[in-house]
Amino acid sequence: MAIELPPLPYAQDALAPHISKETIEFHYGKHHQTYVNKLNELIANTSNAGKSLEEIVKSSQGPVFNNAAQVWNHTFYWHSLKPKGGGQPTGAVAQAIKDSFGSYEAFRKEFVDAATTQFGSGWAWLVKDAGKLKIVKTPNAETPFTTAAKPILTIDVWEHAYYIDFRNARPKYIDTYLDQLVNWDFANANL
Ligand code: FE2
Repeated sequence: MAIELPPLPYAQDALAPHISKETIEFHYGKHHQTYVNKLNELIANTSNAGKSLEEIVKSSQGPVFNNAAQVWNHTFYWHSLKPKGGGQPTGAVAQAIKDSFGSYEAFRKEFVDAATTQFGSGWAWLVKDAGKLKIVKTPNAETPFTTAAKPILTIDVWEHAYYIDFRNARPKYIDTYLDQLVNWDFANANL
């Protein structure tokens, strides 16, 4: 069975004005869709055909891994955003952030630093590792999903995520993600 593009959890214009419908049309409709299409081409008539996306991400290398992990990472990213999101964390994750980083401000500084300093394309993540929250960054398609750490939230810092709306201003995109878009409900569900 072919890998499918999962539905977006909101309408394509629901994150505007922060992330425009045009960005979603390209980022979800073209980039994410292309990773799905490419993965299906690569696994057709191979031992990966019929495996779940998660199994493929955890067991593959090279082009198959790159496309499979990008499919998985992007789905996780769409759920890390929500309309009217952002701001202070809520629920259990608020306490976990306090316990792990000392304060929301300390968490925020470390998250912004990781997302800003990921050189070139990649991702910054909030993960749970050995009972504590941590921030990690990964290049290209790499993902903490293949490690012992459990992904809690992510931000895509490939240029295609922000270039239409923010041009080269990655720091402004990261602030907007934290202030207007981050989905703490999703973080709590993953915790
Ligand atoms: Fe992306």
